Amino acid sequence: MHATLPPVSFDPGTGLAVLRTAHSLYALRLASDGSPRHLYWGPPLDPSELARMPDAPAAAASSFEADAAADELAPQTGARFGPAGLQVRFADGTRGAQWRFAGHTVDGGELRLCLDDRHRPLRAELCYRVRSGTDVIERWTELTHTGAPDGPEGPIGVGRLDSASWTAPPLPDYRLSHLVGGWNSEFRLQRDRLPVAETVLTSRRGLTSHHAAPWLAVDDGTATEDAGEVWSTALAWSGSWRITVHRDPGGRTTWTGGFGHEGIGWTLRPGETLCAPVYAGLYSPDGFGAASRGWHRYVRAHVLPGPERDRPVLYNSWEATGFDVDEAGQMRLARLAARAGAELFVLDDGWFGTRRDDRSGLGDWTPRPEAFPRGLRPLADEVHRLGMEFGLWVEPEMVNPDSTLYRARPDWVVHSSRLDATELRNQLVLNFARPEVEAWAGDTLDRLVRENGVDWLKWDANRAFTEAGWDGHHDPDRLWIDHTRAVHRVMDRLRAAHPGLRIEACAGGGGRVDLGILARTDQAWTSDNTDPVDRIGIQNGFGQLFPAQVMAAWVTDSPNTATGRRTPLRFRFHVAMAGALGLGGDLTSWSGEELDEAAALVALYKEIRPVVQRGHQHRVAPAGGPVTAVHYAAADGGEHVLLSWRPATRFGHRPDPVRLPALDPGARYRDLETDRVHSGAVLVRHGIDPRLPAGDHASSLIRLRRVPS
Ligand code: GLA
Repeated sequence: MHATLPPVSFDPGTGLAVLRTAHSLYALRLASDGSPRHLYWGPPLDPSELARMPDAPAAAASSFEADAAADELAPQTGARFGPAGLQVRFADGTRGAQWRFAGHTVDGGELRLCLDDRHRPLRAELCYRVRSGTDVIERWTELTHTGAPDGPEGPIGVGRLDSASWTAPPLPDYRLSHLVGGWNSEFRLQRDRLPVAETVLTSRRGLTSHHAAPWLAVDDGTATEDAGEVWSTALAWSGSWRITVHRDPGGRTTWTGGFGHEGIGWTLRPGETLCAPVYAGLYSPDGFGAASRGWHRYVRAHVLPGPERDRPVLYNSWEATGFDVDEAGQMRLARLAARAGAELFVLDDGWFGTRRDDRSGLGDWTPRPEAFPRGLRPLADEVHRLGMEFGLWVEPEMVNPDSTLYRARPDWVVHSSRLDATELRNQLVLNFARPEVEAWAGDTLDRLVRENGVDWLKWDANRAFTEAGWDGHHDPDRLWIDHTRAVHRVMDRLRAAHPGLRIEACAGGGGRVDLGILARTDQAWTSDNTDPVDRIGIQNGFGQLFPAQVMAAWVTDSPNTATGRRTPLRFRFHVAMAGALGLGGDLTSWSGEELDEAAALVALYKEIRPVVQRGHQHRVAPAGGPVTAVHYAAADGGEHVLLSWRPATRFGHRPDPVRLPALDPGARYRDLETDRVHSGAVLVRHGIDPRLPAGDHASSLIRLRRVPS
């Protein structure tokens, strides 16, 4: 309808800014006080309707409220009493900014609104970017001290610099979907009625965290997988963060989010700019499933560095050997992994320094002489000879006090010398915000990759920040930002120097998975919990935002090391085949029959991999019910994969047919296992029998191919 209209426009006369995507529209308007106010976020609208739209829903005015629309980023001035997305404090103790509109730029799909403080040398730029081929709008803020170096103002304290504030339209009720968890139980989807209150989602850990994710979705309480309006947002940040959702008693719901947690603050000196990370938003009119597919499309098109490369079937030695690694043992595993069809062999923890357990060695990234007397090269060469790529586990941000590095550089850790340092897993965090630490990490990793023919790094981070300090630095809280930025930079530089290198993000499992880390990694280790029953829920939450190709999933031993649960090999495979399949068991203890079955299932996975990793995902029977099923459809609609899992059987319960609404009712589909041809209309409206065998831990994989008409 608006094909000729630009994706981004701003009319200085009316102060109206409009951002258009294929299926949504976002609008804001400058208020008379110079501050940008939210106007609209929803399905496309005619621009003339927008121009006529009132600034704010009429509310009963009183001397206690201002009758104004929600801010695009709330400063701490005026009759604003909700959470402020921008909190500044000037040297004389005054708090808050008061804006004067100072101009705008439109550059392709990007809009910048410049706001100057009316009284002080402070400028904020509110930035908006429409991402082509998606319905995602990216937003962020840049804050600059515009005073002269020797000017009278002095440094400006920044207590909060959010990337953006978002506003949902008036709805009869509000529900919040978000992800919660802990180590071994990440990404549990939580759907709660939003209280009339401020709800804080946050990480104070210096990592994105296992406990909360910087993604949320808001709906009116009635949306389903297939229907209903959903407004969702995701922050591209891999350190501490905070999002405050405010449902006010007047019925308005807004949320403001960005990096950093409460209680920390930064100092802006004359000439300095602080840039907040991207906070992306997506409106979907067609339920949670379409919202997820919208995010998946965005992650592939605009976030991942190499979305077109299939993720290899990897083997990882961690659950098999723990710290007890050596050349002969790893070579034995590598041969078995190759036999099972693995394409990448990853040597996990224990290969370096004095590392025989988690008490020592972190920081000393040279091969442990007793385990690898000839260095890593012979293992790497053998892995390559077997036709696999060679991967290596590293945890570059961490150090054991019992290490050569710490003894030489005790000042490199994130630590305030006036406090006792808490050790977690016997380790401390290195302060990557220090340029010399960043340089050391970059050089060390570059050397490791170059000297050992490393094709893949698993970059781990196994503890949170505590007693964080930076002795001698004028603005020590900068470490919360600069550490994360340095981690991103080291990854970026490694990739630039080694274009074939791939990186897997890991932080004790899924403790640091976000749009920021995924912009420089290929996949994420979803969870240390590899129990397939638990994984069904974890994967369901992970997939709300992230596509299957970044969701690393291993098949490990039975009984499972985390839960002790026994499950059949086929069930473990079928669950892991929903993402980027890997093997993580002790293959030396698998029987010949098990290895053959594994090899056959790996071969099958390679056949369905393009559909799983690059297709569209439909949660046709979402987690939580007796049967969970996920349908992957190739982008051209030709090939389809249905994975179904039933962890526990119930007497008398026959699984319902699983409906596949994404199929074409006018087409016909051949079932590749039974050779039966199904009518698309029947599969869409009635469904297909998931063909689950009797008993617990039942699973199936059904492949359908569109019959040419
Ligand atoms: C973390 C990772 C595991 C493994 C161990 C090694 O917990 O998530 O996969 O690499 O560290 O210590």
